[in-house]
Amino acid sequence: MQSSEIRSRFLKFFEKRGHAIIPSSPLVPENDPSVLFNTAGMQPLVPYLLGKPHPKGARLANSQKCVRTVDIDEIGDNTHATFFEMLGNWSLGDYFKEDAIQWSFEFLTSKEEGLGLDPNRLYVTVFEGDENAPRDLEAAEIWKRYIPEHRIYFRGAKSNWWSPGENGPCGPDTEMFYDVTKDGLGDMTLEEYLAADDRQEVVEIWNDVFMEYEKKDGKVVGKLATKNVDTGSGLERVVMMVQGKNNIFDTDLFAGILGAIKERASTYDERAARIVADHIRTATFLIGDGVLPSNTDQGYVLRRLIRRAVRYISGLGITDLTPAPFVAAVVATYRDAYPNLVTDEARIVSVIAEEGDKFRKTLERGMKEFQKITESIISAEQAFDLYQTYGFPIEITKEVAGEQGKRVDEDGFRQKLADHQALSRAGAEQKFKGGLADASGETVMLHTSTHLMLAALRKFLGEHVHQAGSNITSERTRFDFTHPEKVSREILDQVEAYVNEAISKQCPMVIEQMKKDDAQAQGVEGSFWEKYPDVVDVYMVKCDDGTVYSRELCGGPHVKNTADIKGRFKIVKEEASSAGVRRIKAVIEQ
Ligand code: SER
Repeated sequence: MQSSEIRSRFLKFFEKRGHAIIPSSPLVPENDPSVLFNTAGMQPLVPYLLGKPHPKGARLANSQKCVRTVDIDEIGDNTHATFFEMLGNWSLGDYFKEDAIQWSFEFLTSKEEGLGLDPNRLYVTVFEGDENAPRDLEAAEIWKRYIPEHRIYFRGAKSNWWSPGENGPCGPDTEMFYDVTKDGLGDMTLEEYLAADDRQEVVEIWNDVFMEYEKKDGKVVGKLATKNVDTGSGLERVVMMVQGKNNIFDTDLFAGILGAIKERASTYDERAARIVADHIRTATFLIGDGVLPSNTDQGYVLRRLIRRAVRYISGLGITDLTPAPFVAAVVATYRDAYPNLVTDEARIVSVIAEEGDKFRKTLERGMKEFQKITESIISAEQAFDLYQTYGFPIEITKEVAGEQGKRVDEDGFRQKLADHQALSRAGAEQKFKGGLADASGETVMLHTSTHLMLAALRKFLGEHVHQAGSNITSERTRFDFTHPEKVSREILDQVEAYVNEAISKQCPMVIEQMKKDDAQAQGVEGSFWEKYPDVVDVYMVKCDDGTVYSRELCGGPHVKNTADIKGRFKIVKEEASSAGVRRIKAVIEQ
């Protein structure tokens, strides 16, 4: 069974059981500056798990794109990946343990509707109880209907209590493991099972969390108003099990890109190839979701992934350095599930190529510099110089050092970096993470002005112009958009005039709810369509004389009327941001 069939079987299975299928949110969470990426399917659903009614009802399911980089050093083993999809079903105060467990078992084992996995290879763990919650005898009882009692193991909070962090909904969970050995392990005692887990002979396949508790500042503070279910199953691992492999890289999800790597490598090394495949795949999805390489936050993770891939690509003896065939292989694998990658392919290739070229140039010089270091410990100054002058992320310095039996003063480096950042950050810049982190009057004025500016850019430059990134503080807007060449001052003047006209005409911001399909068909501007529900909020600057200055998909906040934008909109800079992407900085002059 192919991965696409597995994904769609999962969604169909739960749709049939009354679940609304919701789209994957983008990898960068909106309005949640506490995390860089969605790392679990439930993350975008936290407000609903805490009690807010979901517009689609109390039963939801989807396949959510996730990125986790904590395991980056493990990439290359059998089961880790920096990008993965998490299949999940949720009950928001609707069904609880009984249905959740029954459906997990049925989906895993049913040949007709599910995956047809062998029930004799299943093992489960349930929560053994502690001061926060009792031993989960209820879950164990339910499981006994489906698998023999001696394959149900009670385990502590470390493995069987799930929460997304120090704050939020949480609860005991029951985890399902599948035996991936050739001959099968048969019955095992708890100790034998734990040892098999260590050897990756049993692999976690699904986690059902019974979310009825809440955590605050790391402590469980009590029960939620509703008993929820949050389940998560890593698609890559499921595919691996269904396809009878012992590692995720041998599945059809990686076949395309690994084939492209193998074809071009002169010195093939399995681990290096897996790292390249993983990192290019993740970079493709990140860029597709609007992330660009930079020295901070999500951009830094992307930079690190591309640079690490470049290092391993050269180690594989691949001489043709264009990332195009690798990106094409990823896009081909995901074209039906994530069609945005198809439209974005050329841009993704050029972002990776540009970052890769930049790094390759400095890598050579940096390696020479590296070789000159004779000490066994690389000092903070040396690591910082490699970072600052040669573009070596600290992780790469550590890796190269490790290969040469050297150590790095990492703490010293981080201190130096922090000092440097504090110095170069003129004024406390607010971070913008996909939503407005700051809703001060100035920021909101600039947000509405940015909508008007994008509409003007599309009017004067053409429909190919779309948002490629945005960062708004109370002082300025910094806006990236797709356009291949420099924008003349003449056009910038026209753009300014357009925005200022809308401001001086004192037009209301009208929020209209529209069917997503209609909005898209009518040319409403927006990114990340796939993450929006069927009915969307379209923000329109619509004057009383009927002129519409801007129509864009958004979640706000905006001014109520352009009269609230106090001042004159001015573009202070226009420059290249990356290949095919331009950057404008603009302000409101009082
Ligand atoms: N949130 C749980 C997990 O990530 C189940 O979805 O494992």
